[in-house]
Amino acid sequence: MKFFVDTASLDQIKEAHDLGILDGVTTNPSLMAKEGISGEANVMKHYKDICEIVSGDVSAEVISTDFAGMVEEGKRLAGIAPNIVVKVPMIKDGVKAMSYFTEQGIKTNCTLVFSAGQAILAAKAGATYLSPFVGRVDDINWDGISLIREIAELYAIQQFETEILAASIRNSKHIVDAGLAGADIITCPLSSMLGLLKHPLTDIGLAKFLADHKKANS
Ligand code: G3P
Repeated sequence: MKFFVDTASLDQIKEAHDLGILDGVTTNPSLMAKEGISGEANVMKHYKDICEIVSGDVSAEVISTDFAGMVEEGKRLAGIAPNIVVKVPMIKDGVKAMSYFTEQGIKTNCTLVFSAGQAILAAKAGATYLSPFVGRVDDINWDGISLIREIAELYAIQQFETEILAASIRNSKHIVDAGLAGADIITCPLSSMLGLLKHPLTDIGLAKFLADHKKANS
């Protein structure tokens, strides 16, 4: 399983990178806005800064919603660094743009995926990554993890090469469940990643080890 951090915060990306377990970064326009990044030049500079921290794939999302705009924007984004992946929404022109990028050897991440049918279209277009949104499916009282399982089964049967990148991960349990359901990659906020550390028996055990060591050495 690969681990991506889902943020545009340079501090959080550095913190995740320093753990030594980070394989990549995903961003989206909402996460960029959250960091106060606006304007073409600043956005491009910010992606460059992220790519200087991590050598793994960094997803940069297009804002255009028409084929020509996505192609033009995607090419500019892909020119920032070799590890940029162009993130494209699951819409008709997005499918067309992903097919184009695939032909050009440019990696893509198909975003806003909520069904197995959409997953087929993305795989047929040669998407490098597919981002089904687990948390947002849960938000409408459906089952996001079942969606991951369904797509994983479908991709295995059809031998599609597109990697399943479970997105909209909201907690540590989602990470474990998405892994069990067959996701190739999990992208999540740093807090969910760090949440995996937590276990009361670890804290109790460490306190006892240190207390016993202190007693034996006093
Ligand atoms: O990568 C997509 C992800 O950031 C969406 O997460 O929590 O806004 O649904 P969320």
